[in-house]
Amino acid sequence: MTHQECINCGSNYGINEIVYFCKKCGDLLEVKYDFGELAEKLEKSNWRNVSLSVWRYKDFMPIDDVSKIVSLNEGGTGLHSCHKLGKQLGLLQLYVKNEGENPTGSFKDRGMTVGVSKANELNVKNVICASTGNTSAALAAYAAKAGMQCTVLIPSGKIAFGKLSQAMIYGAKVLQVRGNFDQSLDMVLKLAEMHPSIYLLNSINPFRVEGQKSLGFEICDQLDGEAPDRIVVPVGNAGNISAIWKGFTEYHRLGFIKKLPKMTGIQAAGSAPIAQMIKSGSKEMIPVVAPETLATAIRIGAPVSWKKAVSAIRNSGGTAETVTDDEILAAQKMLARVEGIFVEPASASSIAGLIKLVNAGVIGKGERVVCVTTGHGLKDPDTAIKSSEKPIEVDAEMSAIEEALGLKRQVAILER
Ligand code: F0G
Repeated sequence: MTHQECINCGSNYGINEIVYFCKKCGDLLEVKYDFGELAEKLEKSNWRNVSLSVWRYKDFMPIDDVSKIVSLNEGGTGLHSCHKLGKQLGLLQLYVKNEGENPTGSFKDRGMTVGVSKANELNVKNVICASTGNTSAALAAYAAKAGMQCTVLIPSGKIAFGKLSQAMIYGAKVLQVRGNFDQSLDMVLKLAEMHPSIYLLNSINPFRVEGQKSLGFEICDQLDGEAPDRIVVPVGNAGNISAIWKGFTEYHRLGFIKKLPKMTGIQAAGSAPIAQMIKSGSKEMIPVVAPETLATAIRIGAPVSWKKAVSAIRNSGGTAETVTDDEILAAQKMLARVEGIFVEPASASSIAGLIKLVNAGVIGKGERVVCVTTGHGLKDPDTAIKSSEKPIEVDAEMSAIEEALGLKRQVAILER
């Protein structure tokens, strides 16, 4: 039977019960399946003929009533073979899984299509989240499609404009909290507890994680039934790396892949409690009280899913690394200019981390590596504009344009 289970004490909860933390020990929950039952269901299903998307994997999702599915056609993002960038780094096989290609421009859509579908199944009318931007954009869109009221709490002045514009145009009630993401999350957790009619859709919600695990499934299917040697993922609140790992372990358990990849998490240097834990080998996460980075999406000091993420990294033989803002900006530019892929700064941290770990000899040159880029570059145009060469302003005259392009002298030479 599919159920929710505490990751610490193993207490069970029904699949239709609204519960965010274990009532006995307070730890996080995850959705568990009967794998015999699932394997049988998959055998009878034509899922392998459905095109690449989150809902290709509907048999792996905790939704009973398919008429309740709320979808904007998410997933099925490109796995780009990046020969040129790989060659520059000395890597033989480098791929970028570009999650910016999702409907609202980030991987959050994978989680929200399943989370909001579950909310719809449970007859929920009000949804809420705290967000550094992308979660709020995705929730606002799916809530609009489902006809639900949506409230989002975002840190005041610290989210990228593209994301703010999305939450606003989709019609969410937007509260700008004078404080950081961690404080906003704290508020929504309390709100959902005190007002049970408000349904919480941050990544502590186990149904969101179910949607996001499809990222792991897709990568294996795009690599013809093999997991790569390593996955490099930006880490903020730590839901995504945990979700991707869950996807890989489920595929492995069902016998669809032979080996598991090394999960490698990248955090911004000013917001890196998980990377610090991995580096020091510690058992406890020490929150960063005043997290800082220009990669605002991952400006998080107390990641709620740290336990799941740390066990994914440790159990897979992976690692974690920190990257500076300058390294992030350099990687963002490099990916755009070498491979034509424009991602937001937080997403570029996976490329920056890859560069650092290859140079340090931690990632071997023969490894088949997939970097996940989590959000589209247009989410944060301000940062891209600031870090690029300025446009040249010219009069609407040929001579001025030729001069700006350095063409004038060539024309003169030809005339002579
Ligand atoms: N990359 C981007 C672009 C993100 O928006 C986020 C998280 C992450 C990486 C990290 O993922 O939290 O699962 O470890 N953004 C959240 C938000 C926190 O509110 O949009 P994570």
